[in-house]
Amino acid sequence: MINVLFICLGNICRSPIAEGVFQNIVQQAGLTDKIQCDSAGTASYHIGSLPDRRMRQIALERGIKLTHNARKLNGDDFYNFDYIVAMDEANFDDIRNQSYRSSGFYFPEDRLFMYREFDPERQDAIDVPDPYYEDISMFEEVYEIVERCGIEFLEFIIQKNQLRK
Ligand code: 4NP
Repeated sequence: MINVLFICLGNICRSPIAEGVFQNIVQQAGLTDKIQCDSAGTASYHIGSLPDRRMRQIALERGIKLTHNARKLNGDDFYNFDYIVAMDEANFDDIRNQSYRSSGFYFPEDRLFMYREFDPERQDAIDVPDPYYEDISMFEEVYEIVERCGIEFLEFIIQKNQLRK
């Protein structure tokens, strides 16, 4: 089984939608027996909470029900996951630093990604924007971004692991 972990700050907006959308893409590709995913946050403000209501609404309108309960990234995650995917640069730095603090090693660079590396329309953007203090249109944009990234990320995993659909 290939295990993928999506990370943002609060684990209530970006990483749970990334998880839900990627899960759906994996399911449509018939690869649920080979790839599974989860999400977590670098901060602890929202531990135990469902995703933000606005994010759940946007997902539900597109046929995806988000039921994840927020949790914080922990030291075991660096052993349990093959790929860790950061939504923004602050998350990326936090993941690296936390992996070093908890294990004495940085999580391998070839298995730690910025999600927008996989966005064919990213232009100069490097972060999945944080929608928390923004209006609903930003939540829609986040959905569009994680859908584009998810499609390309699955292709990457298929190639890298020589999975056949
Ligand atoms: P997320 O968004 O990292 O995409 O889940 C946020 C959620 C909560 C906060 C910030 C960003 N917060 O400051 O509480």
